[in-house]
Amino acid sequence: MKLGVNIDHVATLRQARKTIEPDPVWAAAICELAGCDSIVVHLREDRRHIADRDVEILRKTVRTRFNLEMSVNREIVDIAKTIRPDQATLVPEKRSELTTEGGLEVKSNLNSISRVVEILKKKGIAVSLFIDPEKDQIEASKKAGAGIIELHTGNYAEARDDKTAKAELQRLKDAAAYGTELGLMVNAGHGLTYQNVSEVARLKGIEELNIGHSIISRAVIVGLDRAVREMKELIR
Ligand code: PXP
Repeated sequence: MKLGVNIDHVATLRQARKTIEPDPVWAAAICELAGCDSIVVHLREDRRHIADRDVEILRKTVRTRFNLEMSVNREIVDIAKTIRPDQATLVPEKRSELTTEGGLEVKSNLNSISRVVEILKKKGIAVSLFIDPEKDQIEASKKAGAGIIELHTGNYAEARDDKTAKAELQRLKDAAAYGTELGLMVNAGHGLTYQNVSEVARLKGIEELNIGHSIISRAVIVGLDRAVREMKELIR
């Protein structure tokens, strides 16, 4: 099972001060040296964390696989065409949301999504669609021409009791099986943590998990002791 690390929140921290640190480009290199299989960033329309400059530099520095999360907004599609990441993951995007809330409605937007998939594929970019683990969305993704789907694990991650978690896990399992049956590469992600990842990692047919918030949160906690010691040493 591969791991894609989403480093958006390194940029969130930088933007809190609109300064130059922490730099997501440095973070990407550390993630790669630690063994991740791809670097994921979401260039949002409002540029609240990742900036155009990050995407431009990451394209040149990422040595594993560069996966650009993006909406189907024309400006962003034009940027993707120029940057040419290894992979583009199409996600729904709302300005007011804190993070991506649901899967892409591929079925009801088949024409517009198919058009963007074709444009990106023509540039040699592998295209993934971030969808809820539902049969009709998987079928629509196949129709849209995407070679990859990413199953939204948010409902599983947010389940408040075992019964709901089990049911959501079963939905992911069935969706992974159906996706592979249709010849799609199946990935998964959103809301995965150190506590809930194991069950998803066991599911057959899923090739890569994309994880962001929990890894960056843990990095702050496990790195804080060293950071304070280094500053104290300098002051001394
Ligand atoms: N996959 C997709 C498509 C996402 O939009 C996100 C969040 O940016 C993730 C995975 C990672 O989610 P989290 O930050 O909750 O691990």
